[in-house]
Amino acid sequence: MRVSLAKSERSFSAAPGQSLLEAAISAGLALAHSCRSGSCGACRARLLRGQISYPYGPPLGLSPVEQDEGLVLLCQARALCDLQIDVDEIRRPQDVLVKRLPCRIEHATRLAHDVLALYLRLPSAESFAFQPGQYLDVILPAGRRRSFSIASPPHDARLLELHVRRVAGGEFTDRLFVANPEKGLLTIEGPLGDFRYHAPSERGDAAIGPALFVAGGTGYAPINSILRHLIEQRSERAISLYFGARAECDLYAHAHIREILGAAPRLSYQPVLSEASPAWSGRRGLVHAAVLADHPRLEGFDVYACGPPAMIGALRRDFLAHGASPERLYLDSFDYAPEVLARQRNNASTKS
Ligand SMILES: Cc1cc2nc3c(=O)[nH]c(=O)nc-3n(C[C@H](O)[C@H](O)[C@H](O)COP(=O)(O)OP(=O)(O)OC[C@H]3O[C@@H](n4cnc5c(N)ncnc54)[C@H](O)[C@@H]3O)c2cc1C
Ligand code: FES
Repeated sequence: MRVSLAKSERSFSAAPGQSLLEAAISAGLALAHSCRSGSCGACRARLLRGQISYPYGPPLGLSPVEQDEGLVLLCQARALCDLQIDVDEIRRPQDVLVKRLPCRIEHATRLAHDVLALYLRLPSAESFAFQPGQYLDVILPAGRRRSFSIASPPHDARLLELHVRRVAGGEFTDRLFVANPEKGLLTIEGPLGDFRYHAPSERGDAAIGPALFVAGGTGYAPINSILRHLIEQRSERAISLYFGARAECDLYAHAHIREILGAAPRLSYQPVLSEASPAWSGRRGLVHAAVLADHPRLEGFDVYACGPPAMIGALRRDFLAHGASPERLYLDSFDYAPEVLARQRNNASTKS
């Protein structure tokens, strides 16, 4: 099937069953994307002609209204015939310079019972430019991938920092906790994804409006990169950071955030726990609900949110209902690896 882009002369072919995003990337097109699993909405495009299907059902990252308006998610959509779509290609050179590089795990530091900070050293002759908020893929045997956000800021090029949460039984993360991974070698590919910080000046806004940063668990990693970038830039922006976790022991970046509060006078911080002990005197409940309790109307805010798919799905739905602008809602959903997700969906469909 042939897929043509309305705004350019470019087109690509998509095999039956292949996602449109995968087909476009294989054909060398740079299209915005992040989670690749239908949650974040970053790969939205408008379908102008033809028909698509969603083999795993309507994706979470697209509201029924958006579907009625002809929007589709390229990471989930499969072509049923030749298509014409309207989508912008990314043209900034820093967004498209994706590199595959070997690296060494220089240090590994336990940040919490199930979170490890990995510090990766790249070959000294290599540069690795990225935008604060982007992620990289660790390449496993047979080309399988595991995605992790870059927690360090672009100006600190000495070591790349990752915050890795242990997934019980996880092929990649579990083994990092079983034996000391220091000095181990990895192959990484990046930078990837469209989740990144957008300065108000990019939109031509003269005023620097307020921003909400919402992190769930290791969803704090890309937020840390953005915050440290803004501190380096001496940004004057008013930022409210909400960090959601289950219990006190899961607030793995609490002490670190308290330290950076001193360097960022216009940053405020609220940790929010959903399963806190009785001793906890701070906020309780779901992190996105705490944001809405403080800011019931979200017009005028830029929102950056990262975390597990369920949190991102609920946040997207509720924030839009409270006036958030879809163009100012920047979401990063920490999904399973695509091949793991496909396996789970196949298992579920054979059982039903
Ligand atoms: C864009 C992006 C950025 C990400 N950034 C980070 C990050 O900075 N830090 C971080 O800790 N994680 C991050 N993730 C999630 C991370 O990629 C997965 O947790 C990782 O792929 C798990 O790999 P694994 O080999 O250990 O587990 P796998 O072998 O892939 O999975 C084993 C089993 O664990 C379960 N599982 C897999 N992934 C998850 C998950 N995410 N949550 C819950 N259960 C799961 C499934 O049941 C699966 O069958 C990100 C994901 C995406 C898409
Ligand atoms: S990349 Fe398609 S919804 Fe996230």
